[in-house]
Amino acid sequence: SYSVSSAFDFNSQLFPLSSSGAGYTALGTPNTPTFDLGTGQQSLEKHKSLTFLNGLSLVVGLIIGSGVFSSPASVNSNAGSPGAALIVWVVSGILAWTGAASYAELGGAIPLNGGAQVYLSKIFGEWAGFLFTWCAVMVLKPGSAAIIAIIFGEYMVRAVIGADATSASPWINKGVAILGLLLVTALNSVSTKLGARTSDVFMFLKFVGLLAITVTGVVVATTGLAYDKPALSITWRATNWFEGTSMSSSEWAVALYAGLWAYDGWDNTNYVVGEMLNPGRDLPRTIHTSLPLVILAYVLANLGYIFVLPAEVINGSNTVAVAFGQTVFGPVGSLLLALVVSGSCFGALNATTFTAGRLVYSAGKEGYIPALFSTIGLSHHTQTMRLPRRGSRAKRMTRFVADERGFFYTPIYAMLLNAALTAVYIVIGDFTTLTTFYGVASYLFYFAAVVGLIVLRVTEPELERPYKCWITTPVIFCCVSLFLLSRAIFAKPLQALVVVAFIAAGVPLYWWRVGSRGNSRRRGGGEVGEGEGWWKFWRRWARRG
Ligand code: ARG
Repeated sequence: SYSVSSAFDFNSQLFPLSSSGAGYTALGTPNTPTFDLGTGQQSLEKHKSLTFLNGLSLVVGLIIGSGVFSSPASVNSNAGSPGAALIVWVVSGILAWTGAASYAELGGAIPLNGGAQVYLSKIFGEWAGFLFTWCAVMVLKPGSAAIIAIIFGEYMVRAVIGADATSASPWINKGVAILGLLLVTALNSVSTKLGARTSDVFMFLKFVGLLAITVTGVVVATTGLAYDKPALSITWRATNWFEGTSMSSSEWAVALYAGLWAYDGWDNTNYVVGEMLNPGRDLPRTIHTSLPLVILAYVLANLGYIFVLPAEVINGSNTVAVAFGQTVFGPVGSLLLALVVSGSCFGALNATTFTAGRLVYSAGKEGYIPALFSTIGLSHHTQTMRLPRRGSRAKRMTRFVADERGFFYTPIYAMLLNAALTAVYIVIGDFTTLTTFYGVASYLFYFAAVVGLIVLRVTEPELERPYKCWITTPVIFCCVSLFLLSRAIFAKPLQALVVVAFIAAGVPLYWWRVGSRGNSRRRGGGEVGEGEGWWKFWRRWARRG
């Protein structure tokens, strides 16, 4: 048996007060410390606890969210035929898999928390890691959370109000989305275990839901039993599966983007690599188990849709799953499926809140944003006080307040920042703008990191790589991402320009926060937040030349 909760246990990782040994601080070690790539050694998280299964539940919990229930319309209508749509689902899954496998090599070679932030920093220089962090903290994480939350709200409202929810004001949807966001933020702020358990429960629900769609689809297709018989797709056996397949590369690109959204999140175990017990072995195992599993589940579920629903319905509905439920089981079915989709989104929202907290936290540790955001718990005081003498009263008290069963020992400020930004995007965000921005910006950074893998193979061939993927893997990933990026730039040059401008806006910030600091901090001295309050950091920062 394994304990998922330990996977997310900030307390034991960040407050290793029960461990003995000199030299540790109340905060434990920094998330992205000095690393010595020459020997493949690094001195990081003292409390490694993540196992293979923890990684699996983290990545699957995040990948399966809204996409498989809401992207089919976009995939099918752009691919043009059911057969082509299935190919898109397989191809985008494999593409995500190549990306994830490349990240697994990077994660094994540079086994630190932070994902692309540390890879880009190591390979191209800290400015690259900073720009990624800037984008991820400000837009990518809250933006993707907002998309998932909006879909959560839509389906929740649909489940409660019923089919005519489309006529309801979008503000009701947005309100429900914000409520869901507040709930997951609260859950994860109160206790990491609570958040982790929630993720596990919902992951189970998602697999059951997808499997049920497949089985139902097969049963309906073979027996013809359904609530709404006239709506059934009776033609699927007769039609040519590839009739109408699109010949336009831009349509294929749009279909691929939609499919990739459903697979997105495959990089999330990389954020917590530093805490894996055996990243060299377990990270690739996680990737090579989770992605085939998800691809299989997605392809089967889409077969279910195709068996039951006529192409016009799939192509024209943003709520394919609900149409599926309605056709097979009637109103009860549509209600049930609406609940499944909103539950799935809720689970993904919960998981993304966890990793977002991690990312913002380490940005704070690096000094990219105020150190307040790398505070654990409600008061920065507990974490920043100097470690008292062993056996002293203060030490016993510290042990008490930092007890791992204690509530609120989570990166609360980091999650609050993420929640606040997410709420802003929910309120002002336009769905298509959000998804376009997310697609372009996230693939830009995935592309950069995977190019970095190739660069690293050339510049540091001696580097210990516990897992090495075939060189074709990153090459395929780079080529396809380049294709996707170029299509997006040609199709929506203005929005692509906004992405570039946003990233560029991070450059002056880099000089402001990092530029004049040099590399000294990385070599161990003067970590922000250790043994000092963040206000001291500000003072010190203000005194810099
Ligand atoms: N694949 C997820 C879905 O279908 C989206 C994941 C968003 N990505 C992220 N890093 N939060 O909804």
